[in-house]
Amino acid sequence: MANSNLTSAKKAKKDEFYTQWVDIEREVNAYLEYDPDVFQGKVILLPCDDPEWSNFTKFFALHFIEYGIRKLISTSYAPNSNDNGAYYAPTLFETTDPQYDAVKTRANGRLFTLENKDISDDGVVNIEDLQWRYLQGDGDFRSHELTSLRDESDIVITNPPFSLFRQFLPWVIEADKKLLIIGNMNAVTYKEVFPLIQGNRLWLGPSITSGDREFRVPDSYPLEGAGTRIDSDGNRFIRIKGVRWFTNLEHGRRHEPLQLMTEADNIKFSKHKEVRGVGYETYHNYDAIDVPFADAIPSDYEGIMGVPITLLDRYNPDQFQIVANGDDMDMTREVGVRQLGEEFIRIYREQGGTGHLSPGMRMLCLTRPRHRSAYKRILVRHRGTQ
Ligand SMILES: C[S@@+](CC[C@H](N)C(=O)[O-])C[C@H]1O[C@@H](n2cnc3c(N)ncnc32)[C@H](O)[C@@H]1O
Repeated sequence: MANSNLTSAKKAKKDEFYTQWVDIEREVNAYLEYDPDVFQGKVILLPCDDPEWSNFTKFFALHFIEYGIRKLISTSYAPNSNDNGAYYAPTLFETTDPQYDAVKTRANGRLFTLENKDISDDGVVNIEDLQWRYLQGDGDFRSHELTSLRDESDIVITNPPFSLFRQFLPWVIEADKKLLIIGNMNAVTYKEVFPLIQGNRLWLGPSITSGDREFRVPDSYPLEGAGTRIDSDGNRFIRIKGVRWFTNLEHGRRHEPLQLMTEADNIKFSKHKEVRGVGYETYHNYDAIDVPFADAIPSDYEGIMGVPITLLDRYNPDQFQIVANGDDMDMTREVGVRQLGEEFIRIYREQGGTGHLSPGMRMLCLTRPRHRSAYKRILVRHRGTQ
């Protein structure tokens, strides 16, 4: 396996993946470019973020005054509760502090706050002015303690535990907070996520649209495959595929229209051989065309189109309307996708198909060059074509 991915991290319940400074900086800059006051007067909560490891806390502490942040709250998860706890050793910063407690350092989370007070008296407000104390509990974001910190905040920013993304996102959304969090692209089709994207309450951030990203991991994590490295200081890194930012903060890219050719021009000039000289196939069980690449969406097609989820990397809500998630059988039924039928399955099996398809299913399916299901499609139409 050349690269690890968030799915295997999720299965193994490995959650200690630390975000690189450059990834945070690039993403945050895009919001500041759109609105220089995006953080002005705001209380920012960084849950799951021990400043000893987390670049999020360091990054926002460094820019605290420049961004006009009112208060920065950062919390960490107790070593005894996380999957690297057996290797935990408290830092000198903690053990030399009068508050240090040999039991709590393992069993409790910690709370770090930064306000516009130059506590270290060095003429600047920065990470030196962070104040800390132990939390009463282990810092689980689902606890009452963290929930009330969430309620106090305006924006929640973090790379949450990969294994708990499905719970973490609704935890922020239910409180109607702004958010900027890291997750996996595949999460866009989750039942907890898709309706938010469809309803224009959540979208993808602009700075990561393909490839993989490197995360720092603890020394106890095995490094396997080509996507790993150890730097000259002995820090360990793993590259992860499919990473995306999820947000409800405005940014410029989602207001830029995707440049597209007409259907006729795509058929003549598309760079994709699947489209050039071939055109678009209509689904076996739904009156919509399958568009195998987001950049091959015909600009003048007035009906519904099934497109790859990667459209969401360049999705402009003024250009497209999202009709349904092709992987969600409740949604496909609602929009009228028909059952596959016995005949389709018979041919599918004859042609060697081994997937979990059955006659009663309402998966979007194609028949050329062979019977098969369309992979991870969302149904969209151009705005104003209804
Ligand atoms: C993917 S890491 C990211 C760490 C940091 N936010 C960063 O990006 O560098 C997720 C962090 O969430 C913590 N965590 C795991 N389960 C948690 C929970 N239920 N509540 C709060 N934090 C949790 C893990 O210990 C881990 O440090």
